[in-house]
Amino acid sequence: MSSTTPPPEKKQLILNAFAMHSPCHLNPGLHRYPADQGRNYTSLTHWTKLAQKLEAAKFHAIFFADVLGGYDVYKGPANLDPTIPAGAQFPINDPLYSIPALAAATETIAFGVTASTTYDPPYAMARRFSTVDHLSNGRVGWNIVTSYLESAARNYGLDTQIEHDERYRIADEYLDVVYKLWEGSWRDGAVNVHPDGVTGYADPKGVRQIHHRGKYFNVPGPHLCEPSAQRTPFLLQAGTSSAGKAFAAKHAEAIFLNGQTPELVRPSVDSVREQARGVGRDPKSIKIVAGVLVIVGATDEEARGKFEEYARYGDREGALALFGGWSGYDLSTYDDEQDFRFVEQPAVRSMVNHWASTVPGMEGKKWNKKTIAEYLILGGNGCKIIGGPKTVADELERWVEVADVDGFNLSYASVPETFEDIIEYLVPELQRRGIFHTEYAVKGGTMRENMTGKSGQTRLDESHPGAKFFHRSTHISPQRSIVAKQDERDEQRQRNEECHDERKDEERDEQRLQEEAFDVERQVTDGRDQSPFSGNYAN
Ligand SMILES: Cc1cc2nc3c(=O)[nH]c(=O)nc-3n(C[C@H](O)[C@H](O)[C@H](O)COP(=O)(O)O)c2cc1C
Repeated sequence: MSSTTPPPEKKQLILNAFAMHSPCHLNPGLHRYPADQGRNYTSLTHWTKLAQKLEAAKFHAIFFADVLGGYDVYKGPANLDPTIPAGAQFPINDPLYSIPALAAATETIAFGVTASTTYDPPYAMARRFSTVDHLSNGRVGWNIVTSYLESAARNYGLDTQIEHDERYRIADEYLDVVYKLWEGSWRDGAVNVHPDGVTGYADPKGVRQIHHRGKYFNVPGPHLCEPSAQRTPFLLQAGTSSAGKAFAAKHAEAIFLNGQTPELVRPSVDSVREQARGVGRDPKSIKIVAGVLVIVGATDEEARGKFEEYARYGDREGALALFGGWSGYDLSTYDDEQDFRFVEQPAVRSMVNHWASTVPGMEGKKWNKKTIAEYLILGGNGCKIIGGPKTVADELERWVEVADVDGFNLSYASVPETFEDIIEYLVPELQRRGIFHTEYAVKGGTMRENMTGKSGQTRLDESHPGAKFFHRSTHISPQRSIVAKQDERDEQRQRNEECHDERKDEERDEQRLQEEAFDVERQVTDGRDQSPFSGNYAN
């Protein structure tokens, strides 16, 4: 009897839709394209319909990017004039609020939501994500960002941005705080352990303070929310600097990478997996997802024609505004004919030279403002794959093989058209090749289960740094009880007394002011028959 070796199992792709609660995301000006529905971003129906469509096609997630300020560097400083007509990531709504509604309209597709460790306090952020994890049955993920816009810094009360690597140091402690809240505060099984009328809703001994005292945060806890399905939402991140990659290797369960070719992305993939191994994590447990704009049609020609049609609607000023926000450099200060491959500014020069040597079809082209704008207008600086189903599927397979990525974050030129084309032309081709599932790994499961493909993997895996905070039901005597430690209680008592004295002084001041105000009012009313506004009030 001859034995046959089964063919090796093909890697199953992760496909996410990359979106934003804004008229245009990585497609400035495309709200002018007649079929585009980006302008409906304020409508819940717009999002629920998209989520249902993507779920029917078995997309893993919709991943919502977000920023906390306008792109106001170009022709700036603090100038949104080029940004606003282009709808270039402005105006922009907070994506988190839509998630429970999208979850209610779907069953399995998950939702990645961006939130910043620089501007959002960890105690409040942990509560918001726990709430949404509850309401979505564990289908929310957090894209951890440290933010990069000066306009956000100014609006959050800073003179300028916190230094780049310092933002990552803050983020690292921030993650410790939220792990303690999500994983360490409530013991497994603390809720309704004894539905006997004695213990009550939850066992108070199972809910402990976290006593976090660090360089950047002091959070006593306990966490305000009881444990949700995933506890810690599925963690996504996209760091490209050394500090960013080290942070991602430690914390992220999925990492986004942008790059023009898989050959160029591979070293970053290897380095992040190696760093993950270095901090004791299973490197293969980290999913690497590449950002790609796919324009697909029935044939290569049709797809190329669509791409050119979309590009006609792109807003070049909006694209340069996006560049200004991403890089911090205002290209308006340069001459129109300036070739940025040779500009004196090193950061811009190296970025543009990188594009010049890697973007296909641009060999020998002058990289002036117009070229940069046209390059960024669709899909930002992510890779663009344009063609019929075979061309696109071949290229995606090549990415998986060469770059060792696990899937793709698909941006759009026009919403929902780009996704409808992907669903019509590309998804069946990927399924025919056996590299994209025809059913979810865990129908109705959590984001973590479906991103890892492992039923039952609702919590962080044991090699993840957050796992050391797990408050297991087997913990007999809690390391931290709900009762504050003695020194904290003494400190709190002293603070209360000081506050009490201050309050007394404030109350006295307030009373005096009220009396004075009353005296003034009495003098004014006594001096005239009727207030000039009294007739209006009466009506
Ligand atoms: C696919 C992708 C999505 C991103 N989404 C956001 C986002 O929504 N909001 C944000 O502030 N930054 C976002 N970023 C930027 C990253 O968080 C990060 O700042 C950037 O990759 C630069 O890395 P660095 O900070 O390590 O230098 C994204 C980056 C990539 C590649």
